[in-house]
Amino acid sequence: MMASTEGKKKKIRLLFVCLGNICRSPAAEGIMASIVEKYGLQDIIEVDSAGTSGWHEGELPDERMRSHGERRGYTFDSPARKFRKSDFDDFDYILVMDRQNFANVRVMATSQEQTDKIHMMTEFSRQYTHHDHIPDPYYGGASGFELVLDLLEDACEGLLQVIKKKYSL
Ligand code: 4NP
Repeated sequence: MMASTEGKKKKIRLLFVCLGNICRSPAAEGIMASIVEKYGLQDIIEVDSAGTSGWHEGELPDERMRSHGERRGYTFDSPARKFRKSDFDDFDYILVMDRQNFANVRVMATSQEQTDKIHMMTEFSRQYTHHDHIPDPYYGGASGFELVLDLLEDACEGLLQVIKKKYSL
């Protein structure tokens, strides 16, 4: 009886969005998947990522992002795809990395309900509160990739805590 009721429970779906979907958002997806597993919530929370551009569609995450992630124990292996309008229906939270991503996604929303799903990832920061976006590491060096991981680990943990509280998990 209990099991069948639980089986019908609606999942909470999170979509991480950046420009290329090869650096920041696949890293956010991988980090969040690992945190969700740490809390044993993998049957309740689902994660995915997308890019506002389709420039790298089908590609694996950037080699630099993957190797910086591996050093912290993460595997970033989700192929890039472009953000689409149906994502507004398929996801509960759309988490963007910077203001440009916010504007690009916002312009595709067709209702207040859809607009309300869009959040800056840094809204959930707990320690790195002086950063108002996750900076694009693509044209920079190793320190940029490390900063992205630091900021995302912090904000993903903050997001998980907000969700746990909101849904009494
Ligand atoms: P991302 O980084 O948005 O974090 O995936 C970028 C990846 C590719 C490009 C720019 C940013 N690009 O210009 O191709």
